[in-house]
Amino acid sequence: MTRTLDLQAYLSAERASVERALARAVARIAGMIDPDAAAALAHGVLSDGKRLRPILCSTAYRACGGEVSDASYDLAASLELVHAYSLMHDDLPCMDDAELRRGRPTTHTVHGEEVTMRAGAALIPAAAAQAWRSAVALGCSTARARAVVGALLEAAGAGGMVGGQWIDLEGEGAALGSEQLDDLHRRKTGALLTASLRLGSLAAGAMPSVLTAMERYGAAVGLAFQIADDILDATQPADVLGKNPSDALLHKSTYVSRHGLAAARRLGEEQVRQAVGELRGVRLDAPELEAIARYVMTRSR
Ligand code: IPE
Ligand code: IPE
Ligand code: MG
Ligand code: MG
Ligand code: MG
Repeated sequence: MTRTLDLQAYLSAERASVERALARAVARIAGMIDPDAAAALAHGVLSDGKRLRPILCSTAYRACGGEVSDASYDLAASLELVHAYSLMHDDLPCMDDAELRRGRPTTHTVHGEEVTMRAGAALIPAAAAQAWRSAVALGCSTARARAVVGALLEAAGAGGMVGGQWIDLEGEGAALGSEQLDDLHRRKTGALLTASLRLGSLAAGAMPSVLTAMERYGAAVGLAFQIADDILDATQPADVLGKNPSDALLHKSTYVSRHGLAAARRLGEEQVRQAVGELRGVRLDAPELEAIARYVMTRSR
């Protein structure tokens, strides 16, 4: 049966549940660190993000038969804690040196570089601990809870996001080949997006064929997401993006610099079609995931 879907309404409702989970997480972590770092952490986490990673996680959880609850949103929020730290560090002067994020001054411009580094670092183990606690609260076996935390940390680590950020910085001023660029995008953005699907599906006890399809969907959507980020950086002003476009200024290797705007769009759209095909291939009735895949390339920020 086909359900009609109002994606914007779905995303706003999901975002509200994610915001509540993030507020719980920030209150918990703030109690364990110094007040300066706690203020920086709240600045970096509790701002106007799209919350796509946690929304993908809880949508996958539901699509695989899970019943959403505070614990499932806490699990989903663990991905956003990692994402928030990555942005706090990404904006530092030693990385992209950015002053605007989510329509506000970046964390380090308000709270200072040292405090922002510390607050960002505190988020990594806090996210892992939160993923563990939530998986257990959702009734996952020890083995499954381990797999959940392992997936999060692997995606965040040197083989995933951190490694991708490294290649991104090394690629400044260089013209990366198209395979290297794919690798960069898959790691710096695709890995955590793929983990979002994996965490939700694993926690819901998805069968292996569905888990694989979800991961393939995540990889394709993740690549499309960074292609769209590159396109938006090249085409939209700061007041729409909530961040200052900077890829050209920093001589970054992006899909736009490598392939040009039209081809970048085409390649992103191809990934979206592939993502939707993965879900249909296992007959997963998940209109929200299909709509989110399309939204990734049509979004305005
Ligand atoms: C920006 O991520 C950085 C990338 C990995 C492309 P988002 O576009 O998800 O940023 P927020 O969380 O909505 O601010
Ligand atoms: C950031 O990529 C990716 C991560 C933070 C892992 P970008 O540097 O392109 O993100 P924006 O454009 O600053 O949001
Ligand atoms: Mg960057
Ligand atoms: Mg950046
Ligand atoms: Mg960018």
